[in-house]
Amino acid sequence: MSSPDFPATLDPDRIPAHVAIIMDGNGRWARAQGKDRLYGHWQGYRTLKQIVYAADEIGIRYLTVYGFSSENWRRPAEEVEGLMRLMLEAMRAEIEELMQNGIRVRVLGRLSQLPSDLRREFSDAMERTRENTRLTFNLAINYGGRAEIVDAVRHLAKDLLEGRLSPESIEEETLSARLYAPDIPDPDLLIRTAGEMRLSNFLLWETAYAEIWVTPTPWPAFTRDHLLTAIADYQRRTRKFGAVVEEDDLS
Ligand code: IPE
Ligand code: IPE
Ligand code: MG
Repeated sequence: MSSPDFPATLDPDRIPAHVAIIMDGNGRWARAQGKDRLYGHWQGYRTLKQIVYAADEIGIRYLTVYGFSSENWRRPAEEVEGLMRLMLEAMRAEIEELMQNGIRVRVLGRLSQLPSDLRREFSDAMERTRENTRLTFNLAINYGGRAEIVDAVRHLAKDLLEGRLSPESIEEETLSARLYAPDIPDPDLLIRTAGEMRLSNFLLWETAYAEIWVTPTPWPAFTRDHLLTAIADYQRRTRKFGAVVEEDDLS
């Protein structure tokens, strides 16, 4: 049963369980306003806050956002430092409200390479919210899809060497069970803002059959309505997973 204010454009029975977002275009959006890139990132944080609560309200179970890629260290030191500070301040500012709303926070990526105060903040947030049962909000930070697969392979190799695994027993599940969040289902819908048609090393393994939706709107200008539009579009698609379905008839 959906609540009276459930969006009329959506089918409540076909809400994607897991939505992943490549939040791109903060820098371009800021430049277009004559502001510096960091201003765009702060505005992007405002957008993210709206989208987390909108996603929860619509009934999405998992939201995974790309916050900082393993390649983003290539940016000027000032921008990288500004982003680290933003993440620290945002996490400190939001944790109570996330907690009150029953949101579970998880951070995916090579966290050991982050500044220690940020790492501590993330660990505390994960620990505090671990029993929460509404939306699971995954933040991909210092995340790379290839790095995630490499980390999984390292675990796998260790298990192999120590005799817990044999080469013949390796299946897709053997590897996926060693990814950063093995208990979370693969994304159903992948949204990218700011128009670029690429994955930029995001969730390479997990997006094998994700439906992709790209908008030219840059992340700071993205709204709940864009999210609803993306989901409505998703609901009109036929997912085939390699099989033949009725719709394949072109006539
Ligand atoms: C996305 O916006 C946020 C991060 C990568 C941290 P960008 O900073 O990539 O903005 P553009 O793509 O340069 O406009
Ligand atoms: C992807 O955006 C990373 C995040 C959104 C955090 P980028 O802006 O880094 O991707 P490219 O460089 O355009 O591929
Ligand atoms: Mg970008």
